[in-house]
Amino acid sequence: MRLAALKEAAYAFGSTYAGERDAPEARWRQTLTDRARFVAEKEGIVAGTVSGGDADSIGAAAMTAMWVDPRFRRGGVGDLLVKTVLDWARSNHYVEMLLWVTDGNSNAERLYARNGFVRTGAAQDVRPGHLEFEMGRRL
Ligand SMILES: CC(C)(COP(=O)(O)OP(=O)(O)OC[C@H]1O[C@@H](n2cnc3c(N)ncnc32)[C@H](O)[C@@H]1OP(=O)(O)O)[C@@H](O)C(=O)NCCC(=O)NCCS
Repeated sequence: MRLAALKEAAYAFGSTYAGERDAPEARWRQTLTDRARFVAEKEGIVAGTVSGGDADSIGAAAMTAMWVDPRFRRGGVGDLLVKTVLDWARSNHYVEMLLWVTDGNSNAERLYARNGFVRTGAAQDVRPGHLEFEMGRRL
């Protein structure tokens, strides 16, 4: 799922397919425990994924690795995944949710705006010459 996401939507992520393709098994196993990982299924087929973990600031959670398989887009899977991570964060007593979205990824930015996120004003290079913007919301 992760490799499919990096391959299909390279513009959306800081990590790359080439950088993760040959990761050792121990690293893949580690990624399953270092964050909360969610998948959305439709009739037994995995349609999308998202992750939640600690952000850098105290009390803030980070939403990362959001991806919906193109075959399942525009059907509400993205909204479901956002709501799932927000619920996870509330149950784990975070007070704020933060995420990064790459400049020009308007599908993702609309998804987040629809779910109450606004740009915080922070921006950084996701890769040389390409910016990403931080968005956040209170929980
Ligand atoms: C961004 C992304 C996760 C959105 O996933 P999605 O499942 O298509 O999201 P949703 O279905 O919840 O919403 C997408 C659109 O479909 C619409 N929609 C929702 N349910 C619908 C339905 N039943 N029928 C028709 N349209 C529907 C939504 O209103 C929304 O419209 P808008 O974009 O015009 O505002 C997906 O495009 C993706 O994986 N992109 C590549 C990876 C990426 O950018 N990840 C984010 C990194 S920050």
